[in-house]
Amino acid sequence: MAGQKWVHDRRSFLGVGAAAAGARLFGVRPAMAQDDPADCAPIGVAGKTPVPFKPSPALPVRMRKSAFELSKTEVDRLKSAYAALRKLTTDQPDDPRGWLRQGYVHCWYCGGGSDGTAGPAIHGSWNFFPWHRAYLHFHERILCKLIGDDTFALPYWDWDSQGRQSFPTVYGDPNDTSNPLFDMLRSAAAGAAISTQAVSVPMLNRTMNSSVNTLYMGSASDSGAMENAPHGPVHIWTGDTAMQAANNDMGVLATAAQDPVFFAHHSNIDRLWSVWLGLSPKHTNFNDSGWLQTAWQFYDENSVWTQIAISDVLDPVQSLRSDYTPPNVKPIWTFKARTAPAFVAGVAPVQPAKVAPLTLATSTTTPIALGRVPLTRSVAVPPAHVKAFAALTASAPAQFILHVRGITVADDQQAMFNVFVNQPNATAATSLDSPNFVGTVTVLAKTKGMAGMKGMAHHHHPAVNAEFDVTDIIAGAKGATRLSVTLVPAAGAGVAPKAMKATFRQLSLEQL
Ligand code: C2O
Repeated sequence: MAGQKWVHDRRSFLGVGAAAAGARLFGVRPAMAQDDPADCAPIGVAGKTPVPFKPSPALPVRMRKSAFELSKTEVDRLKSAYAALRKLTTDQPDDPRGWLRQGYVHCWYCGGGSDGTAGPAIHGSWNFFPWHRAYLHFHERILCKLIGDDTFALPYWDWDSQGRQSFPTVYGDPNDTSNPLFDMLRSAAAGAAISTQAVSVPMLNRTMNSSVNTLYMGSASDSGAMENAPHGPVHIWTGDTAMQAANNDMGVLATAAQDPVFFAHHSNIDRLWSVWLGLSPKHTNFNDSGWLQTAWQFYDENSVWTQIAISDVLDPVQSLRSDYTPPNVKPIWTFKARTAPAFVAGVAPVQPAKVAPLTLATSTTTPIALGRVPLTRSVAVPPAHVKAFAALTASAPAQFILHVRGITVADDQQAMFNVFVNQPNATAATSLDSPNFVGTVTVLAKTKGMAGMKGMAHHHHPAVNAEFDVTDIIAGAKGATRLSVTLVPAAGAGVAPKAMKATFRQLSLEQL
């Protein structure tokens, strides 16, 4: 069945022959292991009006469980669901529900086909969580339908649970190419330990302690902390455990969802959306009507072209009939609710006067290049800021946000860099345990660069913006007269990063 990938993507336009003849092999790697879909546009939608999504209250609530806790029966059910999904692609390549066309849905909404067409972008903004929730829903319902079991639920890969910083065994090892959950263009093997550049306690602590929705979930223009890390680095690591190359499935947006583990990874991201919302009353979804009304189209389990809005997915139990059985172990991260010691001491918390943005780097002409070596920008702290920083405690209501704006990367390249404040000597070897570690910026490759071979126009990465709460670091550096930000290109732990073809336009510290 691996052959089907090549039949649709590659043999058709590259003339690669019977690369993978074995009917049940998912692990045969043809000589040219590159497979950008030429055209991943949804099939058969011309002239169709999408039907609005309606909840099905009669359906049982599908309970998603950790991939590390599945019973033998549940593993068998999962495998037969994906076997059926792959078989659908083989038997009826034009059925929109089959494995390959399901993968194309993700391609369409983010990577785009190598013919240059793409749907509205769903990465790098506050569309990230809701779009993927809707996608998981339709994917899961299709699997239910194929195996005739409305209780079927996707497993989640809880890389944030104690003892689970490894690749879930059920998704296959390289010696078992008959496993329908295995993907040939993946380097993480069953049980492999995840690089600390992909998942670590300090990274998860930074992300899960994001204090407001724009920081955690992103905004109309900015990517959120979760999308940046660990979401992106786990993609990169799964495809290439050295975290250097973007010529695999999971590391590239156009092909990521052809790997079944994509859905287990995103189930965990989706679970952590709900977990984060439950950590504090200050953690809320947006009430912006433009956001709530944003809608996308998917084929449902009966091949009905369906439109679903963000407002349809915000109560997943009621509307989607899906929920999570919590892991039976604790997370490796801890939530530290902001306390108010000033209030406890009987003194009103001090709200420093709002200060102007402090720009560390800016370029409207030539973008600033980020290659293989760390880049540090430092500025003298103006007196008004020295005063504002001095008035700050980690628990004060004021917050300082570091913005990295206008990040661009070549379409067939990825970028990943760790950000440090006031640690100008940070390198790729610096531990993320450093109290000056702020977070990780990740931009996944869109394509594997096959478009050039077709000589067609390319759909380009829009610029990406990232933002991080650095209040605690600023509060801890009272009296400092200089402020520095260091961007450190990163690869897998202990691996030298390759030169990134990334640029950015602005580094700025701004009061929220
Ligand atoms: Cu749509 Cu994890 O990427």
